[in-house]
Amino acid sequence: MSQFGKLYGVGVGTGSPDLMTLRAVNVLREVDVIVIPQSKKGRKSVAWRITEPNVVKNDAQERLFLTFPMTKDPEILKPAWDIAFTEIGKRLEEGKNVAFITEGDPLFFSTYIYLHKAAQKRWPEVETEIVPAVSSFTAVPSVIQQPIADGQERVAVVPASYGLDTLPQILQLFDTVLLMKVSSIMPRLVEILKNEGLLDCATYVSKATMDFQMTTTDLEAIKNDKCDYFSMVMVKKQDRNGILEGRFKESTES
Ligand SMILES: C[S@@+](CC[C@H](N)C(=O)[O-])C[C@H]1O[C@@H](n2cnc3c(N)ncnc32)[C@H](O)[C@@H]1O
Repeated sequence: MSQFGKLYGVGVGTGSPDLMTLRAVNVLREVDVIVIPQSKKGRKSVAWRITEPNVVKNDAQERLFLTFPMTKDPEILKPAWDIAFTEIGKRLEEGKNVAFITEGDPLFFSTYIYLHKAAQKRWPEVETEIVPAVSSFTAVPSVIQQPIADGQERVAVVPASYGLDTLPQILQLFDTVLLMKVSSIMPRLVEILKNEGLLDCATYVSKATMDFQMTTTDLEAIKNDKCDYFSMVMVKKQDRNGILEGRFKESTES
């Protein structure tokens, strides 16, 4: 029997506290330590803002704020993660159950993925559990009431800030394209959508299910604005949906 505590990766959903799952709430009420990631010391954590209304203050429970910088630079990330993972490890070694909270789902573009990998290496005996959650991938379509896919439709998810070179091919192949991390590349993205004749099929959504949620289909109008980090563009073609209504025959060729 391992004397280690258990490590949980808990998704807290995309913004509204009432979109947290019962399981997430139950786990977070029970664990010894809640790890709250913040991008800078003292900066408000979005995941904690979602979680806090659902967990009653409990003096026996530690709320451990750890810094996970918002950068793509491994030279900055690695040492910061090492400090954070060491702090988490200390608690696990003391037999404490530790839950790492994360905005959206823990296995979808989340720092928890790196903690999970590190845990398997650093503390191979540690038991882990993942609590899934409402993700931007489902929240954004629900806010604009656009189906993600039906029947023969194909879906792609693209972290757009990592390069748009292949986007034209992706737009041709897929019926629904969900573009994440768009805030810094809106002007270029709008150009590509225009070239592909798909600007009219695109909707921009920021802060889905959070306070100050915003949606627009006029991407031209907002492309030079300072867009929120929590923003996505959903491109929804309508040419292959509705197969169950007999609109299109299923084809193996395209
Ligand atoms: C680091 S990823 C986190 C994804 C998260 N784990 C999830 O399951 O949605 C951050 C990106 O997800 C998207 N995102 C997350 N939450 C969002 C929200 N509430 N509204 C719009 N986009 C969101 C944005 O594209 C943002 O740049």
